[in-house]
Amino acid sequence: MNPLPHEFAEPLQRRTGEIRPLASRVVWHAETGSTNADAAALAEAGAPEGAVVLADLQTAGRGRLGRSWSSPPGAGIYASVVLRPDLSVARLLSNAAGVAIAEAIEDVTALGPTVKWPNDVYLDGGGGHAARKVAGILTESGMTRGATWVVVGFGINVLPAALPPQLTRATSLEAELGRRVDRGELLAGCLARLAERYRDLQTGRRDSVLDSWRLRAASTFGRRVEWDDNGRSTAGVVADIDDEGGLVVETTAGTARIVSGEVRWT
Ligand code: BTN
Repeated sequence: MNPLPHEFAEPLQRRTGEIRPLASRVVWHAETGSTNADAAALAEAGAPEGAVVLADLQTAGRGRLGRSWSSPPGAGIYASVVLRPDLSVARLLSNAAGVAIAEAIEDVTALGPTVKWPNDVYLDGGGGHAARKVAGILTESGMTRGATWVVVGFGINVLPAALPPQLTRATSLEAELGRRVDRGELLAGCLARLAERYRDLQTGRRDSVLDSWRLRAASTFGRRVEWDDNGRSTAGVVADIDDEGGLVVETTAGTARIVSGEVRWT
């Protein structure tokens, strides 16, 4: 097994108490295809809850909706966590992860990240600049020998090199801050916040997760969105998220609830 670099090992060790039950096992790859694919394979092989796969470089980083995730060496956090939640917890995991990653970024940088449904993390541009995406989350799930597993994968752009050249609505932490960001501290912070939000869901504190999500998404409420409804382009105004993390949108034909796929912010 590849030894975890000191940059990550030290903060993870120091904050074990907050990070537990996550990082019960950490698999490090200097280079891999996708940490989500690796974590799913571990889950299928029976890995315990909390196993983490971390890479310095992904050659086939996966984004939502079949997109790719730019993952050049040393330029970001590319991490995936194996969880084994009950169904009721699993439903809100993706929202909880968005909140947790935004909180961790705020803890480490003092920036104020926002979330956009379902779980993109944005930094609001100052000086008239539009908000730009700094982190994304991909949750994937499956069932192996009757046991459900969920992989929560997150990618954070730390250095400007992490940005795909064609994407203008994206940014990195170091570009925003103008200083170096410690990837080890950031990873440990993400896992600590994710453990906390996971515990919230497991102990019936769903409202705490939903309310935190709503606060971070406040700037998107009242905004107009479009989406494809069975091949038909539909539009409406964002009102809220519901108790299961679905986006609630008011349309001329009534209230719609979007549970998956993509919305376009117009
Ligand atoms: C998105 O916004 O489209 C989700 C991006 C998720 C990227 C992360 S990087 C670590 C993990 N491994 C992957 O292949 N994808 C996720």
